[in-house]
Amino acid sequence: MATNQEQQSFAPDFDRSMPQYLWWNGALVPWQQATIHLTASFWTGVTAIFEGIMSYWNADAGELYIWQLEAHLQRLLRSQKLMRQESPYTVAELTAAIQSLVQALDAREDTYIFPFCYPKGGGNFESSTGPGLQPVEIAITARPNPSHLGKGWARSACVSSYTRISDNVMPPRVKNIANYRNSNLAMAEARIDGYDTALILNPAGKVAEGPGSCVILVRDGVIVTPSTTDSILESISRFSVLELARRELGLEVVERPVDRTELYIADEIFMVGTAAEILTITSVDRYVVGDGQIGPVTRAVEEVFHRVVRGHDPRYAHWSTPAGLAGR
Ligand SMILES: Cc1ncc(COP(=O)(O)O)c(C=O)c1O
Repeated sequence: MATNQEQQSFAPDFDRSMPQYLWWNGALVPWQQATIHLTASFWTGVTAIFEGIMSYWNADAGELYIWQLEAHLQRLLRSQKLMRQESPYTVAELTAAIQSLVQALDAREDTYIFPFCYPKGGGNFESSTGPGLQPVEIAITARPNPSHLGKGWARSACVSSYTRISDNVMPPRVKNIANYRNSNLAMAEARIDGYDTALILNPAGKVAEGPGSCVILVRDGVIVTPSTTDSILESISRFSVLELARRELGLEVVERPVDRTELYIADEIFMVGTAAEILTITSVDRYVVGDGQIGPVTRAVEEVFHRVVRGHDPRYAHWSTPAGLAGR
């Protein structure tokens, strides 16, 4: 099992892919023409929000299936609300925008879709503090991002010395760019100290999540995971995996506060997230998890998840939106 973090970064590769178009404020725009003045970028991260959405190519159907698109767009609108942003587009309009983009790109491969809502004009540290809703601009990119499901990826983790942001600090349930400084600090510390990734505790000292993913433990055959009030993002992968574990694998699922030392004695641990997909944790603070390999529950969850996200199980068709490439 490979453990080299260089080969295992699940952060979508934003540097090397330069698609022909992106969607920007209501229209498809050639990539090279989508520019703003440098100074308008200075403060956008303070209040900018985004979504990360995976879409999976199904060769049999000749279709790209956008995973949980409606749930992601509803979360985007909730992030806009919490950030006091205007919401110029409905879920249906954003769905059509994303479909038009991937169709224009003829994206016949696994693709990462990134809607980004930032303050109109660039904003500053007072953005979203006025009485009214703040005007926004929206850009959406779609770039190749091959799935690593079934490839045996695994990671070592440490418990970070950084505390997870919390609801009264910077609410983790908002997908706000600024929140990722916390993830970034934890990840940097982990890598400099020789681990692949970090698990971050919340202010109560309980397990929260990883830098860009939620965390799930298997203890005596039971799925255990921090609850949505434990300083985590309301993860769509987490919700989907818990549903599949219950329905398809008949597993008991418990959402509750998780102690740090439960990580050390868990039978299996895996991360879940749009980009992380399903990612095995083989050790935490050098305590080997289980036998240090991908465990049987993780493997079963990954198999069912992969089948469903790629559009091979019609019972879950309502979780996937066809991009509209079939027959074109
Ligand atoms: C901090 C954080 N937690 C959890 C997740 C997983 O959320 P989702 O499954 O909705 O992608 C993400 C994003 O992928 C994240 O950035």
